[in-house]
Amino acid sequence: MNTIAKLIEKKVAGEKLTCLTAYDASFAALLNDAGIEIILVGDSLGMVVQGKETTLPVTLDEIIYHASAVKRGAPDAFIVVDLPFMTYSTPVQALKNAGKVMKRSGANMVKLEGGDTMLETVSLLTSHGVPVCAHVGLLPQSVHKIGGYRVQGKTNKEATRILEDAVALEVAGADLIVLECVPAGLAKEISLQLTIPTIGIGAGVDCDGQVLVLYDMLNITKGKRPRFSKDFLSAQGAGQSSILNAVKSYIDAVKTGAFPGQEHSF
Ligand code: KIV
Repeated sequence: MNTIAKLIEKKVAGEKLTCLTAYDASFAALLNDAGIEIILVGDSLGMVVQGKETTLPVTLDEIIYHASAVKRGAPDAFIVVDLPFMTYSTPVQALKNAGKVMKRSGANMVKLEGGDTMLETVSLLTSHGVPVCAHVGLLPQSVHKIGGYRVQGKTNKEATRILEDAVALEVAGADLIVLECVPAGLAKEISLQLTIPTIGIGAGVDCDGQVLVLYDMLNITKGKRPRFSKDFLSAQGAGQSSILNAVKSYIDAVKTGAFPGQEHSF
């Protein structure tokens, strides 16, 4: 069974970490059998499962429902659960809701989006025994504020802010951090400066690990697949095609550094 300490050991040893999203028991069991180290119950469920335009409508009860199913399917997996939009607007609200997620679903960690505005919250949660995965770069819960799903950290000023936020989040107590849609060079610098593992999505090959939305890497998400993702299902040879093999080939590609390539990076 993976623990925070084991994930950090792997970072120190230079072994890449693998993470995929899951929202139900069957896929969770399959990911666990394939050897995925971290399962993320992402609020991407709003888009890929519920068919909504953004992640914003996902509720706390919905994420707990899905996380509980994931836990039943993969009881020994390391499970990270997104705190939905507006369920952690103050540190006290975050503590109350993170507690509900951990108690009701059996998750190992909660994830929340944001930089310096989240420092007090991260500190409060971790001081109460709630492990936190931070999330910087592109913040899908702020899509209306940002004005679209755009690469972040392209200017020196933005890059410095994201780097400083990542360092401050580690100091505040975060145990893991997602870097979403940032230039590969910036993600590399953050990964070198932090002790905690960085998990990239659209952040280049030098992160300590990678995450993708499961339905994107199986190419069953409606609409255009994001540039940073890859169709691992149809990339297999004739007669080899199965969801289990697709997940195994993703794990292999991340572990060997074959994924993400430059064509998946910014
Ligand atoms: O909700 C989600 O699936 C995520 C990943 C994109 C990192 O936050």
